[in-house]
Amino acid sequence: MCGIIGYIGNKDAAAVLMQGLKRMEYRGYDSAGVALIDNNNGIFLHKQPGKIAELKNSLKYNTVSSNAGVGHTRWATHGEPSEKNAHPFVGCKGTFAIAHNGIIENYKALRKNLKKKGCVFSSNTDSEVIVHLIESYYDGDFGKAVRRALSELWGAYGIVVVSSLHPDTLIAARNGSPMIAGLGKDENFVASDVAAFIRYTRDIMPLQDNEMAIISRDEVQTKTLEDTVVSRPIETVDIDLKKIEKGGFNHFMLKEINEQPNTIRDSFRGRILLGEGLPKLGGLQHIAKRLIKARRLILTACGTSWHAALVGEYLIEELALVPVEVEYASEFRYRKPILDNRDVVIAISQSGETADTLAAIKETKKQGAMALGICNVVGSSIARETDGGIYIHAGPEIGVASTKAFTSQVVVLSLIAVFLGSEYCLTKSEAKKILKALTELPDKVKNILDKASFVKKIAEEFNTCQNFLYLGRGYNFPVALEGALKLKEISYIHAEGYPAAEMKHGPIALIDESMPVVFIAPKNDITYPKILSNIEEVKARKGKVIVVATEGDEQMREIADSVIYIPETLHCLTPILAVIPLQLLAYYIAVQRGCDVDQPRNLAKSVTVE
Ligand code: G6P
Repeated sequence: MCGIIGYIGNKDAAAVLMQGLKRMEYRGYDSAGVALIDNNNGIFLHKQPGKIAELKNSLKYNTVSSNAGVGHTRWATHGEPSEKNAHPFVGCKGTFAIAHNGIIENYKALRKNLKKKGCVFSSNTDSEVIVHLIESYYDGDFGKAVRRALSELWGAYGIVVVSSLHPDTLIAARNGSPMIAGLGKDENFVASDVAAFIRYTRDIMPLQDNEMAIISRDEVQTKTLEDTVVSRPIETVDIDLKKIEKGGFNHFMLKEINEQPNTIRDSFRGRILLGEGLPKLGGLQHIAKRLIKARRLILTACGTSWHAALVGEYLIEELALVPVEVEYASEFRYRKPILDNRDVVIAISQSGETADTLAAIKETKKQGAMALGICNVVGSSIARETDGGIYIHAGPEIGVASTKAFTSQVVVLSLIAVFLGSEYCLTKSEAKKILKALTELPDKVKNILDKASFVKKIAEEFNTCQNFLYLGRGYNFPVALEGALKLKEISYIHAEGYPAAEMKHGPIALIDESMPVVFIAPKNDITYPKILSNIEEVKARKGKVIVVATEGDEQMREIADSVIYIPETLHCLTPILAVIPLQLLAYYIAVQRGCDVDQPRNLAKSVTVE
């Protein structure tokens, strides 16, 4: 949530900050601003509600000459999106400016004290207290003032501070929100995401919690908040610039949906020993014994990753016979879960930065259980905090609605299920069959994507509806939830997902001729006949039925209003195929309704606040 970039060097700081903010717009996009150290005169502040393009257009570049500054793109928590609540904030004397990502929980008490001392506040945010604290503690030592201010904060922060009194220094600090320094030649950067400065440098130094970085043109020094210097190795990141651009697609979301044949392949590449019928999971090797002995697994996540976790529960319980629980990370962290060292908690997170999921991992470790991660972003906080884990290797996901991360998460969960199953109950030939079916998925996904224009037509038919119901059973119940989430996130249509059999316990009351019901009903021996009855129940009440069915299922064509066919695969892998038409359906409906697909209202890609 919120993206921050700081720059110091020889380039035009405004231009560098604007480019960096644009790359981080997925983190929040309701307002934005920059504070530039004006080479001639103090701090130049420019901020407003709206997106980065608007901020850039309204900035008169020739009015300021600056080679250092900080920029911020916001996702509002405290105070509506407006010019006064946009970051950065300056103190009363106008000599310090800060940008903040996170939440300061004790801001009310701090604000009250500062007001008593005569500070005048210009915003309704929690963040503004930070700059007033720094200003009030400043006695000529920039670092000391920042440290003292930070020691009074409760809550989470990633901050960057600039000062016109110290034009050659930026200070960044982190406690709970990501902050990564980028090391260039005669210039340095710091940002919430490396994507913000990747076009200039790939050499990075991620800050750890309770650390700060003192950054000048030619040096980045890291210290603890107790002022002890800590030396951190320089890491090199390997991100292909093309992967964070739209590459000819109208939206990142459409690009990411279309990338799935490759991203699915990348998530199992090098991890399947087909001849031996075994997955090879390097990131779990050192903890494999403990994982195998686990009395239960707890999968914890938020949003789309939580839906992947639900599919994981079905997979692991069926293929490995290991008890699995799935928990919203936000609930897990606060409900006093009972854990011990026989439990293994697996956090699933695309960004690896989601505050609730990270907190769940901390709780897990506190209680002595083992914590593993399934993350996309390499080197992210969750990846670092866990005892082991597996990267999904889906590449940067920029569209706020998660698509390719979901399918890759399910691939990785399938590999874990086969890995554990091979220890307990799966025969070699059963394991081989599943692994082989996994390797066939990319071509099958491609086959579904080739039918996108058909899904687009269905979207045209239903894009004015106000409500949608998504129903699935077994492995495809989580797909129903994910399909509904995709639609509501980007088209703002009210949509709900249910296990199909639950329809009769309530949702059926909603069904009339204006209600489309999307059934995810690939063929299988157990629940297929039941779902056919559910479809009939909807038809009997004049509901409109869209079905995702297995190729060749002619029966569905007879009863449904529209059928989207997916190729046949093992039933346990159907979620990876069945979700693709639902991603496309949501995408086309949202585009046809004129919605901003990549940056839907009120949402953010990376939720680093509770
Ligand atoms: C936000 C995003 C969702 C995502 C969820 C969990 O709400 O908008 O798309 O599923 O966070 O994010 P994570 O990075 O932990 O998977």
